[in-house]
Amino acid sequence: MYNHWMSHYRALRRILAKRLSGQGVVHLQGGKPVPRNFDVEYPFRQSSDFLYMTGVEEPGCHLVLDGARETLLVPRIDAHHRVWEGHVPNPAQAKKLFNVDRVMYADELKKALRGRRCVTPAKLRDALDDMRAVKTDGELELMRRANVVSGAAHAAVMKAAKPGLREYELQALFDSACLKAGLKHLAYPSIVAAGVNSAVLHYRKNDGRLQSGDLLLIDAGAELGGYAADITRTFPINGQFTRRQRDVYSVVLEAQKQCIARARPGVISADLHVHSMRIIAEGLKSLGFLTGETDGLVENGAVRLFYPHGLTHMLGLDVHDVTGGKRRVLPNPTKVPIRFVAKLEPGFVITMEPGVYFIEALLKDPAQRRKHRGSVNFAKADSFLDFGGIRIEDDIVIRDGAAENLTRVPKEIEAVEAACAR
Ligand code: GLY
Ligand code: MN
Ligand code: MN
Repeated sequence: MYNHWMSHYRALRRILAKRLSGQGVVHLQGGKPVPRNFDVEYPFRQSSDFLYMTGVEEPGCHLVLDGARETLLVPRIDAHHRVWEGHVPNPAQAKKLFNVDRVMYADELKKALRGRRCVTPAKLRDALDDMRAVKTDGELELMRRANVVSGAAHAAVMKAAKPGLREYELQALFDSACLKAGLKHLAYPSIVAAGVNSAVLHYRKNDGRLQSGDLLLIDAGAELGGYAADITRTFPINGQFTRRQRDVYSVVLEAQKQCIARARPGVISADLHVHSMRIIAEGLKSLGFLTGETDGLVENGAVRLFYPHGLTHMLGLDVHDVTGGKRRVLPNPTKVPIRFVAKLEPGFVITMEPGVYFIEALLKDPAQRRKHRGSVNFAKADSFLDFGGIRIEDDIVIRDGAAENLTRVPKEIEAVEAACAR
């Protein structure tokens, strides 16, 4: 990261050191290169905690916070390494560049710790989780920019999509648009799923053919300084929604917009999830897929046949980011199994990503069909098994008033069709 960010990292280190003062020395180990095979490594991405505290992107480093003194330990570089890897900053340069009090070599770690006891890993984990959950203005600036670049890449994909292309051609377009803007890492491998593939939640193959009349779901985001964007859009490959696509899309969009409008401090994330399930249950009732009382459909799992994932998760240095440490752990207040249960606070960044899918593995499961035969119109659902799925995902910042939506990619039906037009 650039020089002017280094005071941002220094301020965060001071907060961490202060809250753990008297409990020992803070020792944080950076990420190490992971070998793929002989002489080849996987692309290196710094550990999120280390990025959070230092902004240092090089592998093999350590950070030691000993009272007020900050020591960064960097790998000792020999002449051979310089031949193969090129220039790396020497300790004097690194001290200035990374705004620390002292730079030592990683092989001097014992000396840096001076035989003193370190804060326990569990205490350090909890402190970092607690701090990382609430984003500072500096972090939000990075997340906003990651979203702007990723959003522009989504818009480029909408414009370029057409029947006959392969999914990986759009993946290439998305990924290169982010790279060209200087965002060298994606936050996660891009999911580009056409037609029935869009009902595969963690679709990875990205090699299907785009066909006129089908939907394309793209879930993709880049990161800046380690901070992720996580955006999903679903749009018609030929640029015009069909009637049934429009119907289902409207249900998902309504659920998403209502949940964004309700996201504010004090709200429990699991309650928002249940709200999204209710909207989707109502919508699927009006479309003839479900019958019965809405609460029952939410509680007995019928809605989950069409919406089998979470509404929201924390977003930050990890795409599924830390949830805020021990003091924020809450029991699930709802009657449905939900993993992410947190009371929202100003400075949390979360996703909002409801979806509706027609997943053969769920809808054809004999046990599910037996259990839900009174509330699901399986004949109708079967006729949608060629539909795929729809997810709409934005990234929002919890604020004292209305939430700030970081994602500006078209999502209203008319806006999506306009963005698809060339
Ligand atoms: N892209 C992963 C997720 O939406 O959670
Ligand atoms: Mn997500
Ligand atoms: Mn996503």
